Amino acid sequence: MAVGIFDSGLGGLTVYNQIAQDLPELPVCYFADSANTPYGTRTADNIYELTTAAVGAMFDRGCNLVILACNTASAAALRRMQEHWVPRDKRVLGVFVPMIEALTERKWGDNSPPREVDVKHVALFATPATVSSRAFQRELAFRAIGVDVEAQPCGGLVDALEDGDEMLAEALVRSHVDALKRRMPHPQAAILGCTHYPLMEKAFQEALGDDVKVFSQANLVSASLEDYLIRHPDMRGDGKETRFLTTGDPRQVTDRATQFLRRKIEFEAA
Ligand code: DGL
Repeated sequence: MAVGIFDSGLGGLTVYNQIAQDLPELPVCYFADSANTPYGTRTADNIYELTTAAVGAMFDRGCNLVILACNTASAAALRRMQEHWVPRDKRVLGVFVPMIEALTERKWGDNSPPREVDVKHVALFATPATVSSRAFQRELAFRAIGVDVEAQPCGGLVDALEDGDEMLAEALVRSHVDALKRRMPHPQAAILGCTHYPLMEKAFQEALGDDVKVFSQANLVSASLEDYLIRHPDMRGDGKETRFLTTGDPRQVTDRATQFLRRKIEFEAA
């Protein structure tokens, strides 16, 4: 089978879209756990159970490598999965590390000790579960010292985007940015720490102002996948076609996905 891309819903399509542009020959299997989205308001144990069930189904369909294109699953479940659950011949990669490597200006897989970096004040926008896991701060502390992170849990934003309600999503972005700026008036960089949020990148940039550098994950994850597949070609799998699977209603998810990416994306039942 192909390389697997997992998200609780449509957000991982922002990562898929970039991968499809950068690696057009690579067949992928996209899996949306739409019946259980959003994950961002669930407990870590529940996110672990749902993520292992979905990734297990992708392994059963022949995927050797699955990318958790979901920060919430990466933050709440990935470490536990890698330590206790992933079979020896399979791999699961998250989306946090490529983003932190970009922020700290490191090359892929650079494991040298933490050092001072230019950016000192970072705003993190993510789901409530990602924020409360503190996984971003933990991964950052392995690589950089002296960086002040202020995290804003963006309640409601994933639901608005899954429902295709852009007006509500824009209003929520403005109010979450305002709330963050009350605690950190002058962030130098902002991390969009949820794969749904690149869809709102313009709204985030406008609300934050031009002098804030906004980091969005899709291109960073795609570049690190490309690099990984050069070093581990056996992880490509032998699938021939790209497929989109959902635990939700395929017709409804197809409509929403087509609206989300502004091109036809056809989902089938998982
Ligand atoms: N897009 C996901 C993320 O990156 C999941 C959001 C959710 O299900 O709450 O966090």
